Amino acid sequence: MLAGIMQIAAVSITSPDGNFVLRVELTPSGAPYYTLDYKNKPVVEASALGLKSDQTDLTDGFRIAGTDTITVDRTWEPVWGEYSTIRDNFKEMAVNLIDEDSQREMTIRFRLFNDGLGFRYELPVQKGPNHLTVKDELTEFNFTGNHKLYCIPGDYDTDEYLWSETTFTDLPEALESYGKHSEAQRVEGLTIQTPMLLKTDDGVYINVHEAALDGYPAMLLDVDPETYTMKSHLVPDRLGVSAYLELPFSTPWRTLIVSDDARDILSSQLVLNLNEPCKIEDTSWIKPMKFMGVWWEMFTGYQKTWAYSDDPLAKPGVTDYTKLTPNGRHPANTENVKRYIDFAAKHGVDGVLVEGWNEGWEDWAGYRKNRQFLFDKPYPDFNVEELRDYAKEKGVKLIMHHETAANAADYELQLDRAFQFMKDNNYDAVKTGYVGAIIPRSEHHTSQWMVDHARNVIERAADYQIMVDSHEAPRPTGLCRTYPNWLAQESARGGEFESMGGNPPSHTCILPFTRLKGGPMDYTPGLFETKMSYYGEGKDSQAGTTLARQLALYLTMPSPMQMACDLPENYERFPDAFQFIKDVPVDWADSKYLEAEPNRYITVARLDKNSDDWYVGAITDENGRTAEIDLSFLPAGEKYVATIYEDAPDAHWKDNPQAYRIRTVKVKPGTKLKQNLAPGGGAAIRISKEPK
Ligand code: NOJ
Ligand code: CA
Repeated sequence: MLAGIMQIAAVSITSPDGNFVLRVELTPSGAPYYTLDYKNKPVVEASALGLKSDQTDLTDGFRIAGTDTITVDRTWEPVWGEYSTIRDNFKEMAVNLIDEDSQREMTIRFRLFNDGLGFRYELPVQKGPNHLTVKDELTEFNFTGNHKLYCIPGDYDTDEYLWSETTFTDLPEALESYGKHSEAQRVEGLTIQTPMLLKTDDGVYINVHEAALDGYPAMLLDVDPETYTMKSHLVPDRLGVSAYLELPFSTPWRTLIVSDDARDILSSQLVLNLNEPCKIEDTSWIKPMKFMGVWWEMFTGYQKTWAYSDDPLAKPGVTDYTKLTPNGRHPANTENVKRYIDFAAKHGVDGVLVEGWNEGWEDWAGYRKNRQFLFDKPYPDFNVEELRDYAKEKGVKLIMHHETAANAADYELQLDRAFQFMKDNNYDAVKTGYVGAIIPRSEHHTSQWMVDHARNVIERAADYQIMVDSHEAPRPTGLCRTYPNWLAQESARGGEFESMGGNPPSHTCILPFTRLKGGPMDYTPGLFETKMSYYGEGKDSQAGTTLARQLALYLTMPSPMQMACDLPENYERFPDAFQFIKDVPVDWADSKYLEAEPNRYITVARLDKNSDDWYVGAITDENGRTAEIDLSFLPAGEKYVATIYEDAPDAHWKDNPQAYRIRTVKVKPGTKLKQNLAPGGGAAIRISKEPK
């Protein structure tokens, strides 16, 4: 400590509403740490901060050189989403740290909102090394007790897991129950993924995640079940390095959404608020949409395949697909795609996704010359020009599929050609996929290289005015604010698993508290035939849902790119229920979370962005319940009609999933609907003004 320089020992700020207090202090050796209080009780006790790189250590030896504090209160308008206007209101404190001996500098910027905290590390250009290889981030979340945890296992490559509801002390057992994933890189030890949720004995809910993940690896959490501490675990590449940084650099924000009301976790916009404003100047071409797909046929035991032929192409020298023998089980053919286009046109569905249209599917495991798929080479039975003209004539948009088989390196090489091919053939949206082990082989699905790749694909897509729905990409962290052409991502266990053993009803009661905090999910709702199988005849899977619940998912799993996943023939069997899918919007002016408990139930009301209609969705877990739907949000002075799509009294997800009823009732702002939800069931309601 130099004489004459005043040591600032501790600094703090409070949230705009005064509910949160954040303190930052240094240990005697100059290591920074923080605490967070909520309503006069600690939420996070003394927790370490700092980064470790090979070149320089940014963990201790610091003094606080000063702080910059500001208050911000502003609003912004997302291109699409749950709200037409979002308030961004916080107190910010930038804590400037300096090590006098080595001249190292680091700022930790904290933003304290009325719904939680975000903080990040900012590394200015240093007098010392300016290229850092980061091996570890010290960030801790030191919680106050043996809270409930809602989480999935730590994995560098997949997040397609069912959720555990456990506690710190029971976590080892919960993680053991998952076994080992065949392809992916399950992390040994007590590691979980973000976003995850905690609930304290006092009923405080805490969502832990990150915002604006860019140029850095994703963060997992190492859990110590004895001290109730979680520590940042950055996804490394296979050399063991997590991040290669060139200064100046700012890390993603580490985020905590905190409230004693579960509904506030769902309505929180904290993660989006911590992302940069939209970087796309003209967003008029970004259009939320509903779509169907030549897709579910391949998942439902009809023995259909993405591949045109069964001939193994991995033989050297076989490159001419017209010479292959068609297997006759390839739904991505011109005639069948026309059938989907006709159905979409008839029912006003905006788009049709086609999977299995291009060369490469026969070679899934072959990695022939490290190139598998060609994104401008349709199979012989898929006539691109004919379908382009047919879709255009019918007013339906075709959506292209780019399955990369995780060969991201090759996808980057083909990207411009692929996007130009899309534009030439009138495609505005692409679904990307990364199934398998990543190429470059040094990388994981969530390592820094793949985070960079994902952003590169989104930026290039924006150059071509292409909207993206990515599967198996790094989990979302609100970057869709900055790049609103990133309409949706999968990045969790989606509806496709209904044909592979099923998703328990509770699954969609936890995703909105966790996965959805990063951005919309392509969950693929709309399943009407709930018995089916990916594995073939006689191996039926029972979906964990009633039919009415599938309609409610359009409200509880909001996405601007929303699928109607089932087959046209299944919608034709239930035309009155399908009407709701036709009607329900995918873009909202306002949202009101009415009831919520993680893993149990969610009731939400949303106002259409393009009309005065309100829509309500209510879902429950495997226990039936009565939702209390308080319609006091309806504007006064009007009378309304509610069309209710509900479970029949004897409906049950397992035994009687397709028993539903549709009724209309008159409602007004004071109405409180008592709505029956079957076990694993749900209800979907459209509320319109009564014609005068
Ligand atoms: C996994 C994706 O999640 C699914 O939607 C897709 O159909 C298959 N990969 C094939 O690409
Ligand atoms: Ca997937």
